[in-house]
Amino acid sequence: MKIIVVGTGFVGLPHAAVLSEYGHEVHAYDIDEARIKAYKSGERTRIERYVNEPGLAAAISENINRYLFFTTDISNVVEGLDAVFLCLNTPPNRDGSSDLSYYLNAAHHLADLLAKRQDKKRVVLVNKSTVPVGTARLLENIMREYGVENVGVAANPEFLAQGNAIEGSRRPDRIVLGADTEEDFQILRRVYSQFVNHVRIRYLETTPETAEAIKYMANTLLLTYISFWNGVGGRLAESYGNIRMEDLKIGVTSDSRISTWGSYVSNGAGGSCFGKDIQSLIYQLNQNGRSTDLLQAVYNINEYQKSYLVDRAIHEADFNFNQKTVALLGLAFKKRTNDMRDSAALKVVESLLARGVHSIRAYDPLAAEDAQTIWFNPEDNHLFGRISYHANAKEAIQGSDALFISTDWEEFRGLSRTIETTVQPPYLVIDGRRMLPDFDALVAQGYDYLPVGGVLLCGAQYQKQPANSQPSAKVVGETKPIA
Ligand code: UDX
Repeated sequence: MKIIVVGTGFVGLPHAAVLSEYGHEVHAYDIDEARIKAYKSGERTRIERYVNEPGLAAAISENINRYLFFTTDISNVVEGLDAVFLCLNTPPNRDGSSDLSYYLNAAHHLADLLAKRQDKKRVVLVNKSTVPVGTARLLENIMREYGVENVGVAANPEFLAQGNAIEGSRRPDRIVLGADTEEDFQILRRVYSQFVNHVRIRYLETTPETAEAIKYMANTLLLTYISFWNGVGGRLAESYGNIRMEDLKIGVTSDSRISTWGSYVSNGAGGSCFGKDIQSLIYQLNQNGRSTDLLQAVYNINEYQKSYLVDRAIHEADFNFNQKTVALLGLAFKKRTNDMRDSAALKVVESLLARGVHSIRAYDPLAAEDAQTIWFNPEDNHLFGRISYHANAKEAIQGSDALFISTDWEEFRGLSRTIETTVQPPYLVIDGRRMLPDFDALVAQGYDYLPVGGVLLCGAQYQKQPANSQPSAKVVGETKPIA
């Protein structure tokens, strides 16, 4: 089939690569010439500068110029076309609504080209990236305005998690397709032929509006689940000593109706989707005069969770951040990505700077370059100038008074040893990801340990215990309520 993919970011590029693996003729289009040049080169490092996904560069180089073509001009590929996937980013506006300007520009450009087609073959325009409920209908109206003939609109939301885009596209849990006519469904069945009647993959055909709503419901439910664990499970374990978070997780999620995903307490869920989508859903419901108290609470719990450990350090560990040096480990919103959008680290830095820290010594295996562009103000750099970037965790920890672990990079699991050999107690370790399974040994040596989903363990008090009386670190912190 002949397909155009409009927009080659996190959604469009993996989608185009995987469609080309199915043997379709895929034209991946973007207005950004530098991107297209990098993709055309087929070079892994240049591709990964834009989209860093395992297996993506290999999938591109295998199919480029055979099934996969990159272009900044689609005017000559509209003849014989079967489908167009719209994969434009829809960033949030201040009021939570989605900024559709990239989407609308692309839609008008497409309408103009399709209206001038010679052949009048049926073509389906498919919304792949997340767009507000009703956007397929909006697209239909734009096509009508330009007099485009024989065109259908559809919604086919993507459910991919970053870091797993290629594998997730090859073996999705489900394919959701919303369209208006049997003719359009037939085209889409051919696009996804290997998934139709698949034994494991759910293949759902519905209306465009239902498909659009499924995407918002799915992401919002996932964030609700994370906020339930952070806001209820985490708070319980932080209030009462001797609650083991890992056992709590097993005990609750062993119910086969409930999944373990989302039950890992953390310093908040980041990334480009959850926050944007829940805000957009709140906006859409508000526009219809509906109450959104639950969703607002879920959003607020998640946002506050990101800097909540800084407050806990102050209230529970009596830590005064003023003029202190803090090592910040992990900047990306989750491991294995360089993406910092909505990352907890953004809120941690904001909160630390507001509390007058002297300096922040940051380290992230992938995201430091992005961070330097975000935390940079050419006119007034007195605040962001306090952040320095380091080559590894050890270097970042050197000379610091406290440590904050913000991302779940695997390499931080072995951090206890690095801490012991780099800084001396009194020293506060704030663990936003529960990355130190051997924290007992640290506390026994006098380090203070403040984990998300657990009470403060105070090194100095532990050391006052008579020798041999305590097989493991004793819980000494008393949780004060946080405003
Ligand atoms: C998410 C959804 O999973 C995906 O279906 C949707 O299409 C886009 O948004 P992604 O943003 O790539 O994908 O990240 P995901 O792996 O879901 O993680 C989101 C955040 O939640 C991360 O910060 C992660 O660390 C955090 N998280 C995840 C937790 O805090 N606890 C968990 O148990 C799981």
